[in-house]
Amino acid sequence: RTVYLNGDYLPEDEAKVSVFDRGFLMADGVYEVTSVLGGKLIDFDGHLVRLRRSLSELDMQEPAAMGDLLEIHRELVARNEIDEGLIYLQVTRGNPGDRDFHYPPEGTAPTLVVFTQAKPGLAASPLAQRGARVISVPDMRWGRRDIKTVQLLYPSMAKMMAQKAGADDAWLVQDGLVTEGTSNNAYIVKDGRIITRALSNDILHGITRAAVLRFAREAQMEIEERSFTLDEAKDADEAFFTSASGFVTPVVEIDGCKLSGGTPGAVATRLREIYIDESL
Ligand code: PDD
Repeated sequence: RTVYLNGDYLPEDEAKVSVFDRGFLMADGVYEVTSVLGGKLIDFDGHLVRLRRSLSELDMQEPAAMGDLLEIHRELVARNEIDEGLIYLQVTRGNPGDRDFHYPPEGTAPTLVVFTQAKPGLAASPLAQRGARVISVPDMRWGRRDIKTVQLLYPSMAKMMAQKAGADDAWLVQDGLVTEGTSNNAYIVKDGRIITRALSNDILHGITRAAVLRFAREAQMEIEERSFTLDEAKDADEAFFTSASGFVTPVVEIDGCKLSGGTPGAVATRLREIYIDESL
């Protein structure tokens, strides 16, 4: 695989980053994941806008190649012959040459890494076809989840808790209310209405979320942007989650409570079809 690192396209085993990189020592970095379907980048502009915002919220310098990111993505898709898959992009505050809590002096170049992950079967996902089983776990992340930082230890722990419980993923709960999934935004459907938490610092402002809500509105579906409780979710007609890697994925079980008879619900299935059709 060819990867991109600070201006160069390199074989993956030749791409090296310093042990003093702030991303490595402090998780001082932000990232984006863009999906590829039929060799085409999905919602790239949205991911770029959110990247700019994450960098700015953390007073992080934009990488010199900021204006070339689309070209870099396209080049990697071509070089690695990606038909279906993901492009991962990460910017860290770079290498100050030593460990120090304070940000490095201005002019320290950020580290920019971009690589591809081939995922054949992303659109025809078996998980989306059977529907995901989720468990609930307490949301123990920090208070700025709207910034897409690389500090993903708690989401990893939560995914491992789900795996140990024989589930596919976890939904995070704070004060009895579902915030989001470990790596996706969470929705329930009740009496034909789509309910999802409103945007705030509590959740990531999903690019897929924005697109799916737009398609749902265009299809005259009713949307309520508000918090919902875990009990409400278990009692919902159906549930689903959205992300760049999972598009729209139906949820068929929450903490062992079956939803929509344990099979993907009609609204989630329809939104997944619309999202993939519109993206292709
Ligand atoms: N995760 N919420 C969280 C906590 C996320 O990590 C993600 C994305 C989302 C959905 O955002 P979007 O629709 O822009 O992908 C919501 C990516 C896919 C990941 O970490 O791999």
